[in-house]
Amino acid sequence: MNGNDGTRVRVTLRVHRFTPRPERDHARSGSPFAKQGSPFGSGTARRRPRGKQWIQEYALSVLPDTTVLDCLLDIKRTQDPSLAFRYSCGHGMCGSDAVAINGTPTLLCTAKVKDWAVSQAAQGTTDADGFRKTTGATIDESGDSAPDGDTNALLVIELSALPGFPVQRDLIADIDPMLEQIKRLKPYLQADGRLATTKDGKIDVFEYLQRPEQLAAYETLSNCIACGVCEGSCPVFAGGEAFIGPAALIAASRFINDSRDTAAEARMDAIDTADGIAACQSVRACSRHCPRGIDVGEEIWQLIAKVKERQ
Ligand code: SF4
Ligand code: FES
Repeated sequence: MNGNDGTRVRVTLRVHRFTPRPERDHARSGSPFAKQGSPFGSGTARRRPRGKQWIQEYALSVLPDTTVLDCLLDIKRTQDPSLAFRYSCGHGMCGSDAVAINGTPTLLCTAKVKDWAVSQAAQGTTDADGFRKTTGATIDESGDSAPDGDTNALLVIELSALPGFPVQRDLIADIDPMLEQIKRLKPYLQADGRLATTKDGKIDVFEYLQRPEQLAAYETLSNCIACGVCEGSCPVFAGGEAFIGPAALIAASRFINDSRDTAAEARMDAIDTADGIAACQSVRACSRHCPRGIDVGEEIWQLIAKVKERQ
């Protein structure tokens, strides 16, 4: 079976669920003990909300090529309408459905059952690098779901909200802290009123011209969909340290490398801070699962070099 010949596998989705309970607003009550966080901070915005937490299992019979998002939609339709998760485009373009699958940040809509279902025995074990075992040694090329000859193995996919962000409900993380950090760095072209010109020297107000090599300097970076997978993978950011985070640095780099932008110096000043590039420890876990193929760690490394070159 190649995943499309109609042979189904039994899989259990083990979902970390969460229902928040209303919290007292310490800021408004003016508590003298309220902490002042970094502007990119680890303060209240990233504090874990309190509420009811539990693990719920859902059994399904699906084709190996089924996406985890489709599994959740099936569960919501047929088993449990209260299960909360977020998605929009359904094909890796909007970035709204980032979660942790088997502990690894990734997108629900591009994750296939055959790649993520693991035998219950493998759950919680780690590979040589210390990462939790995640990918599907359990459904082989022929489509058999029996790992290592164990015909009774229970296939499990474990789901939890994206690490590093406050959980709003079930698999929905509040990514506003990341979006605020990106916004703080002015993620739009600042061209200082310069007008592009046509070949014969006339002003072309509709276009800022670039050569192919100038476009190549930032084109890959412009593919970022602000999904937060790199942030959830980063032990510094997800660990709660004051750090602007890899997604915001990628957004800054995208404009710093754009030949049309005239605010590169100000952009570099904005990230040349203790909680900016100085907080990056070059672990490069951010590069492992970017769904847009951006080598986040390498890009940040080059950005750091560019900022430091000025000194
Ligand atoms: S750099 Fe990649 S992983 Fe990070 S937010 Fe952008 S698309 Fe997502
Ligand atoms: S639903 Fe849009 S990226 Fe997955």
